[in-house]
Amino acid sequence: MPITIRPAFEQDIPAIAAMVNRFAAQDIMLPRSEASIRQTLADWLVAADTSNHALAGCGALVPLTETLVEIRSLAVHEDYQGQGVGGQLVLALVEIARDQGYEQVCALTLRENFFTRLGFEVVDRWSISPKVWQACIYCPKFHRCDEVAVSMPLVAAPAKAEESKVPGWNGLLRWDAWQPLKLAYQQRPSGGER
Ligand SMILES: CC(C)(COP(=O)(O)OP(=O)(O)OC[C@H]1O[C@@H](n2cnc3c(N)ncnc32)[C@H](O)[C@@H]1OP(=O)(O)O)[C@@H](O)C(=O)NCCC(=O)NCCS
Repeated sequence: MPITIRPAFEQDIPAIAAMVNRFAAQDIMLPRSEASIRQTLADWLVAADTSNHALAGCGALVPLTETLVEIRSLAVHEDYQGQGVGGQLVLALVEIARDQGYEQVCALTLRENFFTRLGFEVVDRWSISPKVWQACIYCPKFHRCDEVAVSMPLVAAPAKAEESKVPGWNGLLRWDAWQPLKLAYQQRPSGGER
């Protein structure tokens, strides 16, 4: 099946929503309304079957900070899974993120092996805490989240940054990029008050 990866068009929206929401009904991804897809359409890619124009897959980039972007709503139609379509979508989204000047791409996923085979590494969820503060706290599964955080750096982490001295600190997230990170990574003073 000949597949092309291309930007999403207005006419793709119903098929994207139908596919994403079918998987959402199986509790393996979050639902998206047609309106929310339309609002962010410029950030979506689709995989299209050029033989019959069917939607084979989709995925979107969601900026979390000036330096961190998330891959969200990644889905491949059941008829096209296991043929490399998801991998092509992820790598195309990564290239767009790189071209747009982001320093790091992340995702929350139930398929960590799929992402690690593409070059992502499993990271502590708090190291992508802009995602947690902006989106996860509204998720009905927040308190029973079974997803794993993965990330791929697009630039080298600053070797001598003050932040990198904090254990577990994600050196590509800057203090000034996201204020709540300071709280999340704040070290308790030894013997001090709690
Ligand atoms: C997760 C998902 C996007 C992966 O898409 P996909 O097109 O099946 O992904 P790929 O084909 O690139 O890779 C899937 C597997 O097939 C293998 N594969 C890739 N190309 C292949 C080929 N030509 N022949 C055989 N196997 C192949 C890959 O090694 C990969 O194995 P892994 O998952 O153990 O690493 C898809 O399964 C999906 O939409 N699932 C439901 C929705 C979902 O879970 N979305 C959230 C994702 S975070």
